[in-house]
Amino acid sequence: MPEPNPLSSAIPVDTLIHNIGQLVTIAQTPLHNATGPLQVIEHAALTLHNGLITWIGDGSEQFIHALAQHTTLHLVDAQEAVITPGLVDSHTHLVFAGDRSEEFHLRRAGVSYGTLLAEGRGILTTMKATRAASNETLLTLAQQRLQRMRHSGTTTVEIKTGYGLHTTSEENCLRLINQLNALENLHTQHRIRIVPTFLGAHSIPPEYRERRTEYVDLLTTEMLPAFVGLARFCDVFCEREAFTLDESRRILTRAKELGYALKLHADQLSPSGGARLAAELGATSADHLDYTSDDDLHAMRQAGVVATLLPGCSYSLRSPYPSARRFIDAGLSVALATDFNPGTSYCENMQMMLELAMSAMGMSLEEALTAATINGARALALHEQIGSIEVGKRAELAFWSIKDYHEIGYHFGVNLIHNIFVG
Ligand code: NIG
Ligand code: FE
Repeated sequence: MPEPNPLSSAIPVDTLIHNIGQLVTIAQTPLHNATGPLQVIEHAALTLHNGLITWIGDGSEQFIHALAQHTTLHLVDAQEAVITPGLVDSHTHLVFAGDRSEEFHLRRAGVSYGTLLAEGRGILTTMKATRAASNETLLTLAQQRLQRMRHSGTTTVEIKTGYGLHTTSEENCLRLINQLNALENLHTQHRIRIVPTFLGAHSIPPEYRERRTEYVDLLTTEMLPAFVGLARFCDVFCEREAFTLDESRRILTRAKELGYALKLHADQLSPSGGARLAAELGATSADHLDYTSDDDLHAMRQAGVVATLLPGCSYSLRSPYPSARRFIDAGLSVALATDFNPGTSYCENMQMMLELAMSAMGMSLEEALTAATINGARALALHEQIGSIEVGKRAELAFWSIKDYHEIGYHFGVNLIHNIFVG
């Protein structure tokens, strides 16, 4: 029996993307005409209906010509581009004011990130600048950053709060993140999907320095209940210089009760126990993981926690890169994200993360692309909707101006993205 196609059957179609040089589907279910672990189809075409993929297949001219007879069809000529799922950046701190170039260069001279944090610089420097900035400034800065992300191939980005650190400024930041998402809708085919995360537990603000328990109380009794519906995830920076394991447990347990999904900044600067806690509480992801033990990786695997690696931090802090092999061999789903923030990773570009993952963390191209797409979607619990190119999923695509996807990582330090497309 011939494969059903939009000509012969009742497959709904309103858009046809044709003339695709290579379609790198990263499909999670086998496709009949694809090859390799990423499932690559040469000379492909795909159809959409209401933004969902309805058919993937043969891009032969004859067939496309017949299909294009549909008068209402919106045609998109991919001009032989390589198409992958849009890149999913599942960990960023995108809303803030000011910069920390001074600290970046102090670190080149040997001062550690932890020392700066303990001295009340680092995150708190950015907190001051963010609290002092107008909403207009914060919004403009955030939109400029989103624009850079769009140009680098990102179609979904998670954004954390965490530079307000009191109820009104954290709420303001969450509302800005939601507003950014609404503004993105105006971009129609180039919109970025935004996932909001509440990270009020990023650092103890100076006014609570001597009474930290009260800040944890404020988080659990005031902020978390008030922000239900504004944030999808709750995250905690579980670290010596930030929140202890017990404080993190308290905050995240309360968040879970209120219906937030959970994330953790875990074991970034020391073996803080964050990864173990992520497993204990059934977090969606644990991120950083520079100091996580094998036992804790095992616990994460048992609990189905996604391991998110952030090579931009190793680059920026000049700390050793975690070996991705260790995580993959432990059976974990590994995601890659930028961790875009003014302190540890001032980079909007997911292509750079792919490059670092391949050059410094031992990932193959196939693993890195999987980590930057479907596993990023897993880290946001969106893998049923996005992250791979499959019938039934949303068409959120990256168009690469290359002939073959093997150029990714090989041709580095330049932008290989032509555009993003969101159906
Ligand atoms: O993911 N470590 C905590 N948070 C960020 C850094 C934020 C900052 O330094 O401003 C991170 O690395
Ligand atoms: Fe972070």
